[in-house]
Amino acid sequence: MIKKGIILAGGHGTRMSPLTKAVNKQLLPIYDKPLIYYPLSILMLAGIKDILIIVNKGQLSQFQKVLQNGKRFGIKIKYIEQLSPRGLPDAFILGEKFIGKDKVALVLGDNFFYGQSLTLKLKKCINLNSGCKILVHPVNNPELYGVATVNEKNKVISLKEKPKKSKSNLAITGLYFFDNKVIEYSKSLKPSKRKELEIVDLLNKYRKKNKLNAQFLGRGGAWLDTGSIEDFYKTSAFVSALENRQGLKIACLEEIALNYNWINKREIIQAIKFYGKCVYSSYLKKIIE
Ligand code: G1P
Repeated sequence: MIKKGIILAGGHGTRMSPLTKAVNKQLLPIYDKPLIYYPLSILMLAGIKDILIIVNKGQLSQFQKVLQNGKRFGIKIKYIEQLSPRGLPDAFILGEKFIGKDKVALVLGDNFFYGQSLTLKLKKCINLNSGCKILVHPVNNPELYGVATVNEKNKVISLKEKPKKSKSNLAITGLYFFDNKVIEYSKSLKPSKRKELEIVDLLNKYRKKNKLNAQFLGRGGAWLDTGSIEDFYKTSAFVSALENRQGLKIACLEEIALNYNWINKREIIQAIKFYGKCVYSSYLKKIIE
């Protein structure tokens, strides 16, 4: 069972400058809440309460202001600063002490997931015995992502990072589940031409040992991009349409915690005080009435 999770929220978000000059991309809004609420909600829905957030040097206080130590959501959040972006597998080198002897999930701070039976699928993934599990989803533009081919037993046969031409339309999403070997494997990686440790190289270590499995998000699932300013608007429109139609919020962290009995009504009232008078608080009031 995986009980620990890492959110990689570093990076300079240069594609979104000047929005990202003073504020980390993960703290910019997707409709009515900061982007980081969405990947954090994914770890929480999976049942993970022990979380490490990796942030850029100098940006720690920005994140702490919003998420604090996680107590508001009945979880534990620790933070580490990354001096410079060294590639995704660096998360496991920086997070070595946090991971200890356990297994670990990694979600990229800019990934957005939504869908029926998502929680059920996440629960399947955290049941990992050994090896690595990745979440895959078809896309129209595989050349922008890591791409996988998968056999009928859901074993990953091949992997490629941003292939110019791809036979497969299955993108590797930014949600990964690893056994403890991930630390050792990450440390043994050599930087690529762009001087970063590459996630495909790490995944390939598992694949070569026949230990890399895929979980499909499924047709009813949505995996949306938040890479560019345009994507921010599109994903915001998606959240706005669903929330306003249903009157239910996506990624309301306090609501998830309440449903899992990690917090109670008293803590929701505290959260309302924390947020002040706003739409998010009105929603919190509604769920405890
Ligand atoms: C990273 C990974 C890529 C993955 C993507 C998912 O790419 O390298 O394999 O498909 O995240 O969001 P990046 O967004 O850093 O270009």
